[in-house]
Amino acid sequence: MKLDKSRQQISRMFDDIAPKYDFLNHLFTLNRDKKWRREIIKYLKKLNRDFKYVLDIASGTGDLTLELFNLNPFKVFSIDISEKMLDVQKKKIKSEKLFIELADVHSLSNETGSLDLATIGFGIRNFDDMEKSLKEIHRVLNKDGLLVVLEMFSRKKKDAFYIYFSRLMPKLGNRISKSSHAYNYLFNSVNSFYNVNDFSEIVEKTGFKCIHIKNNFLGIVHTVYFQKC
Ligand SMILES: C[S@@+](CC[C@H](N)C(=O)[O-])C[C@H]1O[C@@H](n2cnc3c(N)ncnc32)[C@H](O)[C@@H]1O
Repeated sequence: MKLDKSRQQISRMFDDIAPKYDFLNHLFTLNRDKKWRREIIKYLKKLNRDFKYVLDIASGTGDLTLELFNLNPFKVFSIDISEKMLDVQKKKIKSEKLFIELADVHSLSNETGSLDLATIGFGIRNFDDMEKSLKEIHRVLNKDGLLVVLEMFSRKKKDAFYIYFSRLMPKLGNRISKSSHAYNYLFNSVNSFYNVNDFSEIVEKTGFKCIHIKNNFLGIVHTVYFQKC
């Protein structure tokens, strides 16, 4: 099944669910999503590097953006194509170091080689042209900049979680968010996405080296760390 991941379609869908996005995220993961984001910062701190100019891509309501402030950056850039998701973020984070922009990952406004770190939390699965977006991220990172991807990857096992994720979650999610299809899209976009190993190989082909993979939950939710090379 080919999903429509055009900017218009995706931004409208996230605009629709923006008021309930955080609530449903925390409910469906039993708050574990907060830990997954916090652990990214812990891992990055252990690398003993400077992360002064950082970019959170597909930043949405800003939960990962907020964590990035713990790296003591000079500037945090935050981009997303959904105005309503960013409206929630603007209420959540007040800092003169934060630069929020309604923008598409396929065409970033940051200068070439200007960033130490780019992060993407549950976003890359929605990108219309993943290869193009990876090349664009590669462009804006400095010579050994890092890319961190937190994402749900496909896994073919049909266990209890699969039933929960394919049936219960779409019904509940659509009802609570009052969306006709956003949580069906969530399941379909994960199910039709790469597994984590194939994903890492694809990213490596665009000029990155995978340096660490963390399995956060049942082989579905992973954090993958890449270094520009
Ligand atoms: C599931 S939300 C993730 C939000 C946040 N990063 C988090 O960790 O909860 C996915 C976000 O990706 C954004 N998005 C999808 N395609 C995008 C694109 N091409 N460029 C920028 N943002 C995009 C959506 O608007 C949405 O806010």
